[in-house]
Amino acid sequence: MCKPIGLDGEISPRVAWPGYAGDMRRCLLAGVVVFGCSAEPKTWAQRDRDERMAYMQEVVLPTMREIFIAYDPDRYADFSCATCHGNDAAAVDYAMPNALGPLPLDGTLEVAMARNPEMTAFMLDEVFPTMVELLDEQKYNPQSAPNGYRCVGCHLVAE
Ligand code: HEC
Ligand code: HEC
Repeated sequence: MCKPIGLDGEISPRVAWPGYAGDMRRCLLAGVVVFGCSAEPKTWAQRDRDERMAYMQEVVLPTMREIFIAYDPDRYADFSCATCHGNDAAAVDYAMPNALGPLPLDGTLEVAMARNPEMTAFMLDEVFPTMVELLDEQKYNPQSAPNGYRCVGCHLVAE
């Protein structure tokens, strides 16, 4: 995302500074400096609590709602924060995982498949990769990304 950088992200008054009026090159240079592309938008890890709340509301909820409704419009007609966070989301301060069906750390996919092959395929194809992206994470891989994101980012860990 490209946005002006300057004082608090506002367009800096320096661009309009008359001293630059007669010197197009310096003006352009100042423009590049002032309007240069700031770094990428914040990652999930960089957001504070309020920003995370807003991101959940503005990005995560609508993105995921669309995916779940496309999968099963009847079941997910009321898709909400609680579908992921549980009905007691506020009481547990939105901690995750909280309420979704437990999955084991070892043999996660085998257990999930045995329980619900259709939902597991949907999770693997759509929900999981989308969440990985939304959180700026990497997919868990025991070799290359041992701290990567796993199904148990959302699902409780089975004892
Ligand atoms: C698709 C599932 C999903 C939906 C829908 C969802 N969230 Fe989340 N939310 C998560 C996950 C997963 C995390 C934990 C991310 C992480 O690993 O840090 C999270 C984290 C949060 C956090 C940060 C908690 C902390 O401890 O820092 C807040 C606050 C939050 N969600 C609020 C909401 C609100 C409010 C809504 C509805 C507008 C919502 N979420 C909808 C999955 C979801
Ligand atoms: C972004 C959060 C999120 C992630 C990540 C996620 N799930 Fe889910 N999962 C859900 C939600 C929401 C449901 C639907 C719950 C419902 O219908 O009430 C669900 C349902 C399921 C179900 C059917 C219900 C059950 O518990 O038997 C299975 C199986 C499942 N997920 C497996 C997985 C697997 C395997 C992964 C990792 C590849 C995964 N999920 C990752 C949110 C998530």
